[in-house]
Amino acid sequence: MHRSHTCGELRLTDAGKHVTLAGWVARNRKMGGLVFVDLRDRYGITQLSFNEAVNAALMEEAAKLGREFVVKVSGLVRERESKNLQIPTGEIEIIVDKLEVLNAAKTPPFTIEDETDGGDELRMQYRYLDLRRNPVRRNMELRHRTAQAVRNYLSGQHFMEVETPVLIKSTPEGARDFVVPSRLNGGQWYALPQSPQTFKQLLMVSGFDRYFQIVKCFRDEDLRADRQPEFTQIDCEMSFVEREDVLQIFEGMVKYLFREVLQRELPEVPRMQYDDAMRLYGCDKPDLRFDMQFCDITSVAKGKGFPVFDQAETVLAINAKGAAPYTRKQLDELTEFVKRPQTGAKGLIWCRVEADGTLRSSVDKFFNQEDLQQWATACGAEAGDLMLVLGGDLHATRRQMNDLRLEMGNRLGLRDPFNFKPLWVVDFPLLEHDPEAGRWHAMHHPFTSPLPQDLDKMESDPGAVRANAYDFVLNGVEIGGGSIRIHDRNLQQRMFNLLGFTQEEAQYRFGFLLDAFEYGAPPHGGIAFGFDRLCSLFGGSESIRDFIAFPKNNAGRDVMIDAPSNLDAAQLKELGLG
Ligand code: AMO
Repeated sequence: MHRSHTCGELRLTDAGKHVTLAGWVARNRKMGGLVFVDLRDRYGITQLSFNEAVNAALMEEAAKLGREFVVKVSGLVRERESKNLQIPTGEIEIIVDKLEVLNAAKTPPFTIEDETDGGDELRMQYRYLDLRRNPVRRNMELRHRTAQAVRNYLSGQHFMEVETPVLIKSTPEGARDFVVPSRLNGGQWYALPQSPQTFKQLLMVSGFDRYFQIVKCFRDEDLRADRQPEFTQIDCEMSFVEREDVLQIFEGMVKYLFREVLQRELPEVPRMQYDDAMRLYGCDKPDLRFDMQFCDITSVAKGKGFPVFDQAETVLAINAKGAAPYTRKQLDELTEFVKRPQTGAKGLIWCRVEADGTLRSSVDKFFNQEDLQQWATACGAEAGDLMLVLGGDLHATRRQMNDLRLEMGNRLGLRDPFNFKPLWVVDFPLLEHDPEAGRWHAMHHPFTSPLPQDLDKMESDPGAVRANAYDFVLNGVEIGGGSIRIHDRNLQQRMFNLLGFTQEEAQYRFGFLLDAFEYGAPPHGGIAFGFDRLCSLFGGSESIRDFIAFPKNNAGRDVMIDAPSNLDAAQLKELGLG
């Protein structure tokens, strides 16, 4: 062992002990005849003290230590004269009598401090150095604790962790597959799993009853703050359950994680129908940290001669409480916000309720006080409030208003990351129509069961069929999604038919599953949680990158190892690709 203690361990009660520590030089200060070195490791920082009067040669050596040198020291633990009560080891120092440089280091490209001077790209390039920084390391520790707690909870509930293969056949989860050429089977390809969906269902046919896996999934899709091309799921499946059983077990898991990881109680988890989520919040993962529900003012906004509203399918308003004092500049900024290409609104109408109750709007030309009062009544707007209004076709207006609502939530400081508001969203539509392709897609995946009461509408009115599916939403982020599955071959075949697969295609792609359903498939259902997303929310961040040890950048590149990269000609030839 190179050390007797870690750099985070020693306290005043250890004074008088002779110890050996090893770590990295975080700081080196020379003060007259003294040199102080801060020695850092994963556990903390300990001050080393070198005194010219005691050992001049050793002090000279210490003065030469560069940042991030790896050193081993021995010495006596002593009470410090000037204490630093900010850190747990701040009452002691080590009077070093032996110093060994285990490895020298180049000056790091950025400072390894809580607040660093390194930009994003540089820190990604030297991620191993970034990981030395406290905030990043703490995120990884949180991730580890969360994984441990997940395993404890699920094992306690008789779930068994089973590994499923990574080289598989494409599983449709709505994204593109990453594919791997097969050398032994020239011209054929494996796909990397978008999730272990079909395997976990097969494990239910095998009688495993309760399965889980903390597992890497791969999806070739455009990246955002909460998306990575390879990410981790807590993937789960259970037999002989109905929806309510799944919701209870996994609400229990989140409750357990809140206690174990955050030392907090999970607030009540309300349930919301998908239709209500879309109507009141314009999205299927509403952020319930603040109200600001949509008010449909179509009936009172139309027919007053304002062409934008007269032509609109729907007119929606939100009430930003207390925002009436917004200045012209702030209102212009909001207008610019909704006009950004990502949101795509043509403009924004506002109406404020002055202190005396007078209504002032950006469309006073078309709407009198009485008209505007109807808006205010519909929105519950009172003196001091600001109504923001958008009109257009239903789908686009809801989407735009959702963007605006979240932006107002940010501006009004209503989205505290440590104010946790969970939610189950249930009763999603089974199918989603793709007008361009002229066909239906599974909204969740093709193995999701329709609600039993909607089964008879599958062929006659597919759009009206609801799925026995559910999402777990936390602070406006979809943390988990799952469903009760189809376990009957004929129903699965009907589903494939609806999705436009011919009998042959379905057999080619999913024959193994259809066949398995004929060998005693129990009723089953499950869920998968986005593990990176869960950790990042626990850590108070919406960016999952900070909670992944070696993440990809926005272009899907690992800039540290420089991947993806070219293959040499011989390798390509061997794979039949050259
Ligand atoms: P779904 O596709 O909803 O369901 O995925 C489950 C959860 O995984 C997380 N997630 C992601 N996290 C980071 N980066 C990504 N690119 C990414 N994509 C998804 C989300 C999501 O809620 N097999 C089904 C589950 C089931 O039915 O049991 C599935 O994969 O938090």
